[in-house]
Amino acid sequence: MEAIMFTPRAIGHVRGPYKETKDVPKGLGAKQDAEGVIEILPTFEPGLMDIEGFSHLFVIWMFDRSEGFELTARPPSDNRPHGVFATRSPRRPNPMGLSVVELLRRDGPRLHVRGIDMLDGTPVLDIKPYLSSVPQETLRRGWLAEAEARAGK
Ligand SMILES: C[S@@+](CC[C@H](N)C(=O)[O-])C[C@H]1O[C@@H](n2cnc3c(N)ncnc32)[C@H](O)[C@@H]1O
Repeated sequence: MEAIMFTPRAIGHVRGPYKETKDVPKGLGAKQDAEGVIEILPTFEPGLMDIEGFSHLFVIWMFDRSEGFELTARPPSDNRPHGVFATRSPRRPNPMGLSVVELLRRDGPRLHVRGIDMLDGTPVLDIKPYLSSVPQETLRRGWLAEAEARAGK
């Protein structure tokens, strides 16, 4: 049976330095340390209560400037194709992005963050505190570790 679905709505938007996809650093070793602001819409501002205590946040957002999807993707970090669900490709069946950002400060409805990899104006769908309980030694990095080894990184 089909699950009952919902229509996502933006709770806010990203304000950042990247206007076009080519501006965002890509490939092995690319650093995502751009600073920006997540502007929350007034209706949702009460939902930010107590967020200041968290150093990092998960931001769930919409790839609003990608079209369609492909079930295999060739990421900039490798020259081999991989299944879309084994990548962070913007061209996915449900075009949702997930980024971990560092919360620098809150100024009312504006969250100043570091680690932006979204384009300016990107709709934000949700925010959650980042808490990782996965011990480092149990993490496996799949094809990415192999691509890094091939590139000598
Ligand atoms: C590889 S994805 C990873 C995004 C996120 N960290 C994730 O894992 O879901 C990052 C790329 O998405 C593209 N991008 C960023 N914002 C976008 C938007 N609003 N619409 C379409 N593409 C976007 C940029 O080209 C950027 O290099």
